[in-house]
Amino acid sequence: MTMPENLFACWHPVAYAHMLLDKPLSVKLLDRLLVIWRGRDRVPHAMDDLCIHRGTALSLGEVKGDEIMCPYHGWRYDATGACTLIPQSRFDSIPTKARVNSFPCVERYGLVWVTLTEPLHPLPEIPELESPEWKVVNTGPFSWQSDASRQLENFTDFGHFPWVHPGLLGDLNRPEVPDHTVTIEGHVLHYTIVRPEAANSADFPVFANEAVEQPMRRSRYEVHLPYTIVLRLGWGKTKGMVYFFVSQPVAANRCIGFCIIGRNYDFDQPDDVLQNFENVIFNQDKRIVESQRPEQVPFDLAAELHLKFDAVAMAYRRAMTANRFSD
Ligand code: FES
Ligand SMILES: [Fe+2]
Repeated sequence: MTMPENLFACWHPVAYAHMLLDKPLSVKLLDRLLVIWRGRDRVPHAMDDLCIHRGTALSLGEVKGDEIMCPYHGWRYDATGACTLIPQSRFDSIPTKARVNSFPCVERYGLVWVTLTEPLHPLPEIPELESPEWKVVNTGPFSWQSDASRQLENFTDFGHFPWVHPGLLGDLNRPEVPDHTVTIEGHVLHYTIVRPEAANSADFPVFANEAVEQPMRRSRYEVHLPYTIVLRLGWGKTKGMVYFFVSQPVAANRCIGFCIIGRNYDFDQPDDVLQNFENVIFNQDKRIVESQRPEQVPFDLAAELHLKFDAVAMAYRRAMTANRFSD
């Protein structure tokens, strides 16, 4: 299956930064196997996971200083992908063909990001995640057998809360989705939902509900195409929560979701409360989304049935098509 070229021109996450230590790591992005690794300055690098000599996976090798060494015959490559040492003929010059493709790679928001060609857009700005007044918890990663578009769309879908997450995010007595308007600015969708909060569950007291009767929760969404969401939750006072969700498009029917949560309250709560909460939520979603066919969101609006409360899904499909992130 071919992929729209614009998908290659985006920053995509490939790992939590804390997962990339001294050993090289094999990752897959848009059906391409990559190796990521850090040199002495700890800056991450990305290149094809394929030694030019005999096609061995470089991710099985080792980092040596600022170079990565193939495990088969010990050839070494620098961060630009150029071969720097061929031990079997070390007194001869190295052929210029002896190199692997390297790709732009950065670390930000606790994630390692890679783009396969010059990116169309910078990463979104999320000052909360870089502020000492906010505490950040990494949840997941959530590996699903679906296209990243389905995982993204599920995160934006309110209509399923009472059915898939009763008692945690929704309430079967209130299945209606409040009216909301989606505005599209280039590759970013904006919309806000205000609704009464579902009660904090005793198992997962993660939201900033006061003990008052049904506080209103304001959810301000930004969807950055193709697969990123910035969601800011507020309850009318100073307490705030930000969800940064981004899906790694591994292949046409595989994705990995990273969900980073910032809060300016409850600094003492152990991280695993939020992590366990998101494990429950994402597992409730996973079996539903993995059952959806086709595995990728059909971007043709005629392909599924959309009602008024599906405004976000419709806007997402339109904008993905307009920005040529879909065929
Ligand atoms: S296959 Fe990598 S050095 Fe020979
Ligand atoms: Fe869900």
